[in-house]
Amino acid sequence: MDLKAFFKLSYGLYIISSVSGDLDCGCIANTLQQVTAEPPMLSIALHKDNRTTRAILESGKFCGAVLTEEADMNLIGAFGFQTSEKFDKFGGFSSERDENGVRYVTDCVAARYSCEVVDSVDLGTHIMFIGKVTAAETLCNDPVMTYDYYHRVVKGKTPAKAPSYKGEDVKADEPAPAKASAEKWQCAICGYIYEGELPEGYQCPICGVPASKFEKIG
Ligand SMILES: Cc1cc2nc3c(=O)[nH]c(=O)nc-3n(C[C@H](O)[C@H](O)[C@H](O)COP(=O)(O)O)c2cc1C
Repeated sequence: MDLKAFFKLSYGLYIISSVSGDLDCGCIANTLQQVTAEPPMLSIALHKDNRTTRAILESGKFCGAVLTEEADMNLIGAFGFQTSEKFDKFGGFSSERDENGVRYVTDCVAARYSCEVVDSVDLGTHIMFIGKVTAAETLCNDPVMTYDYYHRVVKGKTPAKAPSYKGEDVKADEPAPAKASAEKWQCAICGYIYEGELPEGYQCPICGVPASKFEKIG
């Protein structure tokens, strides 16, 4: 199969959020799309291991927020490379709670859609949720982030849990193996650990942030 053929698909970039008891959950996804107009319905494909997926299964609700081009790796790294189980993703950003009690980010967000799940499909690694939109709102008219813009301009990466993940995306600029006694640095955005002296101009191979975002851990 020609895996490069999948690069021809185009997407936007979204934060999908939900709530699980007291825990506000959210993750980055590129797979949100409108599937019907009357009634307005959206679909979203989320990995079964995502904490947000479990929250949607429990609550039957989710909110989709459309990211603008202003969204940087602090926002995308927090929501796309960490888990809501261990990390308060909403802490550093402005947010609101929708009519269903689901929190959604308002920073660098052009619109939000609040949904109630009406169906779901087990896709093996992922679950596709079909959500009926119960409220929708435009937050700003700034240009929205496309998946192409994310790769080309933001120079962001795609983690393995995204349906659009291509193995080579991460392996392409993996650093050379380090010497055993080397120092250790950790990316504050996605948690990636680099062993050895950080090279000049180094960028995290997972989330793409510069060396200044790394903290020395050993
Ligand atoms: C650019 C990008 C696109 C992504 N697309 C998806 C997606 O469509 N579906 C999915 O399940 N995860 C996707 N992810 C991965 C999740 O955002 C990531 O696994 C997140 O850490 C899950 O957080 P949670 O455990 O708090 O739910 C994407 C991540 C990035 C950075």
